[in-house]
Amino acid sequence: MALPALRIGKHEVQYPIIQGGMGVGISWENLAGNCARNGIVGVISAVGTGARHPQLVRLKNGYPIGSKNSHSREALHQILKDAKDIAGKGSVIGVNILCAITDYGRVARDAIEGGADLIISGAGLPLRLPEYAEGYPDVALVPIVSSARALRVICKHWKRKYNRLPDAVVLEGPKSGGHQGIPYEDCFKPEYQLENLLPEVLQERDKWGDFPVIVAGGVWDKDDIEYYISQGAAGVQMGTRFVGTYECDASNTFKKVLLNADKEDIKLLKSPVGYPARGIVTKLIKDIQNGTAPKVSCISNCIVPCNHGEEAKKVGYCIAERLTDAYRGKYDTGLFFSGSNGYRVKRLVHVKDLIDELTHGIPSGQDIPILEQEKQSSPTFINI
Ligand SMILES: Cc1cc2nc3c(=O)[nH]c(=O)nc-3n(C[C@H](O)[C@H](O)[C@H](O)COP(=O)(O)O)c2cc1C
Repeated sequence: MALPALRIGKHEVQYPIIQGGMGVGISWENLAGNCARNGIVGVISAVGTGARHPQLVRLKNGYPIGSKNSHSREALHQILKDAKDIAGKGSVIGVNILCAITDYGRVARDAIEGGADLIISGAGLPLRLPEYAEGYPDVALVPIVSSARALRVICKHWKRKYNRLPDAVVLEGPKSGGHQGIPYEDCFKPEYQLENLLPEVLQERDKWGDFPVIVAGGVWDKDDIEYYISQGAAGVQMGTRFVGTYECDASNTFKKVLLNADKEDIKLLKSPVGYPARGIVTKLIKDIQNGTAPKVSCISNCIVPCNHGEEAKKVGYCIAERLTDAYRGKYDTGLFFSGSNGYRVKRLVHVKDLIDELTHGIPSGQDIPILEQEKQSSPTFINI
């Protein structure tokens, strides 16, 4: 089957795929720009952007001070500009903003003023997003939801207060990498699995309009994409497979951790955000359990639910610092997110080849086993 194009508001891409936003530092200019250049939606993560351009922000002990420096407007604008330069004309670049971050409204406005074509927002309900997008009718607004109920609440509120509906919605199931939108126990229940949530979300969408429903979480190949399209989805959002690309902005350490992960290493972990986050069990997770992880000091004040480090102390780690360390390639203290399919990523490939594979079924990267070889001689990453 030839995959259809994907239209979101005024924006259209050749293939029905969104590269999911991944923070901190996993999807910045290089990944998003290359994805957009190759016919899908490229998405920049707006969290912790100060770590990308430390020369533009104020730091303490190497971490950006406060949310102004952590989720930096100047750094985000630079990342957006660079992504657009890589992507070229006519491409579509979105910005992913977690609703839970401190200064959500300001960051949404920063992204819009910096030229984002789409704003994609989850980890909470982006109820006030249309307010921040006022005056920019071409910027598509795309909430991420985990249930039909969440979509109903957003549509009701946006319609009543702003006379606006989402331009698309991403329905994320519990196989996804990073933060989940539901409690730990629910992640295992059949009724919360992506394929079972989709019909109710489509029904809810039909009550409001005909905006596209895009599914995320555990989508692996062209067969999966075709399956979800046959079930009524307009497209898919994918994260983990894009971590396994040369162009991904993550450190090589991050990519190696992913390439070395076994199925049982990928777990739902406690997070100061409140809901669980799916990631890879590495040394840090064991240190948290043993009480030997780096102390929480809350330099960045990154997310509201953490309450200036109070929740971080309860779960035993600071999410901003640990994700930033993973981005910087610090294995011992880094936190490495992955979707439940992460153990299937066995070699690095180029974005273009991955998109060819996803859209035409051509296996990608057969000729590039470089990290595979490195992996063989890197026992540090095995048996962690
Ligand atoms: C390393 C990593 C970091 C992520 N960070 C974010 C994030 O900052 N915000 C967000 O909305 N989703 C985040 N996600 C979720 C992805 O955008 C995407 O929806 C999800 O990974 C899809 O599932 P898949 O990984 O099975 O393809 C992250 C996923 C990964 C793997």
